[in-house]
Amino acid sequence: MISIYPDYEKLSSAAASLFVECANQSVDSQSRFNVALSGGSTPKRAYELLASATNRELVPWGAMHVFWGDERCVPMDNPHSNARMAWETFLEKVPVPARQIHPIDCSREPRNAARDYENHLSNHFGGKLPVFDLIFLGLGEDGHTASLFPGTAAVDEFDRWVAEVFVPGQDFHRVTLTLPVINHARVVVFLVSGDRKAKILNQVMDKGLGREFIPAQRVEPSNGKLIWLVDRAAASQI
Ligand code: 6PG
Repeated sequence: MISIYPDYEKLSSAAASLFVECANQSVDSQSRFNVALSGGSTPKRAYELLASATNRELVPWGAMHVFWGDERCVPMDNPHSNARMAWETFLEKVPVPARQIHPIDCSREPRNAARDYENHLSNHFGGKLPVFDLIFLGLGEDGHTASLFPGTAAVDEFDRWVAEVFVPGQDFHRVTLTLPVINHARVVVFLVSGDRKAKILNQVMDKGLGREFIPAQRVEPSNGKLIWLVDRAAASQI
């Protein structure tokens, strides 16, 4: 399902509302809400709106567990940190208990960081393949999502739940959820904004292209819902 919004603000408002809806549905049915956040810049406004007067009273923060879909292996105070971005945009302003915020600890060697996060997920999800109630994802211009970059082994990782990634030309390693976890979520939401994403979004939507070239095209929840929230600029070629 794809929804097209006139601009970034309306896209962000829709994303925040969907987050609120998912959170309440999850807590009503299972008394907790497990969400994996996306990094990058697109979700920033949606996260800010979650902490706004409009939404903050609507969210069952005390029953929420916050994870990340991926992280850059940098200190948490580094501007590249996805955890720092979420913290500054909303987590420091809302009452999610600290023990329920689960950042990816990248202070150690990336492979160990991936292993440790997988162990953490296993403890949280009772040793079973995690079922996130909501996973937010972004879309890179090269078709990556989370830190599943074209040509990296993580894209073809089907045993591990969390993998380390090094992208040539980037200054840091990354740690990412793998497709088995992403595709096991109840709801997966892509947030895509801006004319820079128009070409890749059109390619992703064209299922005729080779899947191996576009990791984002391999996000197909086995039992869950896949939702694309895009603005008109990003949708200009579809
Ligand atoms: C990351 C993100 C990544 C991001 C896309 C889109 O850690 O880099 O998880 O997958 O969502 O690169 O980024 P923008 O939203 O900044 O365009």
